[in-house]
Amino acid sequence: MSGPTDMPRRAVLAAAAIAPAVLAAGAARAQSTRPAPASRSKVALVTGSSRGIGAATARRLARDGYAVTVNCEKNRDLAAGVVREIEAAGGRAIWVQADVSDPGAVRRLFEENERAFGGVDVVVSNAGIMRLAAFRDMTDADFSRMVDVNQKGSFYVLREAARRVRDGGRIITLSSSITQLRSATYGPYAATKGAQELFANVLAKELEGRMISVNAMAPGVVNTSLFTDGKTPQQIAGFAARTPHKRLGEPSDIADSIAALCSADGGWINGQTVFANGGIV
Ligand SMILES: NC(=O)c1ccc[n+]([C@@H]2O[C@H](COP(=O)([O-])OP(=O)(O)OC[C@H]3O[C@@H](n4cnc5c(N)ncnc54)[C@H](OP(=O)(O)O)[C@@H]3O)[C@@H](O)[C@H]2O)c1
Repeated sequence: MSGPTDMPRRAVLAAAAIAPAVLAAGAARAQSTRPAPASRSKVALVTGSSRGIGAATARRLARDGYAVTVNCEKNRDLAAGVVREIEAAGGRAIWVQADVSDPGAVRRLFEENERAFGGVDVVVSNAGIMRLAAFRDMTDADFSRMVDVNQKGSFYVLREAARRVRDGGRIITLSSSITQLRSATYGPYAATKGAQELFANVLAKELEGRMISVNAMAPGVVNTSLFTDGKTPQQIAGFAARTPHKRLGEPSDIADSIAALCSADGGWINGQTVFANGGIV
């Protein structure tokens, strides 16, 4: 039974229940006193962003105002370092270790992103590996791992993206200009990258009416360990000499191209493969 004398007690109980939420909101506000860019509330998830092109993309999208989920397979320290850099520059980021070749791990990656940031607007399916050998020498293990990470892994990431990216968002998957260059020893790797171009084109159509643009980004030769490992300085210089600009691409060159697709001006580019390669093809 309630009467006038119960009122103050109920008010006190209600206030006590609300207090933690108010305090939490206050804490959140206290962390965001810096002037926020227009896209402050947008969220990007970049797979394979502990180093290389993915790390440059995570940093660039954070600079553009996205809260970013960084991902690694093994190099937790590097992933944590990318998050620290983003935070030191005033951005928001988390890192999640998840092997993209494991569909359960990919689901958890997206769930952890949602727990931290509430949703996702941009997904960059970037995690990838490259093992080179002529057909006669390619091992079952290397072939399988490339298919598992590059093709199946990217499929698992794009499937989650198709389910979760908010209207007006962007989905970008990493192909490679090797799908045009078609050099010896690159056959199985190139095939896993060619799949990305088909994935992007078909997914763009499936997401009709949602204003989500889906594209494949196809870099040329980029100065990361994926490209340089196992090559002599002479071989690397030979690739650089083949580009009209006479240099390798840098991870930031690709990050800038990805950021352009993510910008408001990039929305009409949809279902395409965008070759960002300094003209090597
Ligand atoms: N570099 C080039 O010349 C070039 C050219 C065309 C296309 N690409 C494509 O661009 C993408 C990035 O290449 P990159 O050159 O930046 O490579 P990278 O420097 O070797 O970095 C690879 C990134 O992918 C992560 N990764 C690898 N396997 C993974 C897995 N199973 N699950 C989750 N993350 C995984 C790595 O994490 P850990 O640090 O934990 O290992 C790392 O963050 C790849 O898809 C590649 O095919 C590169």
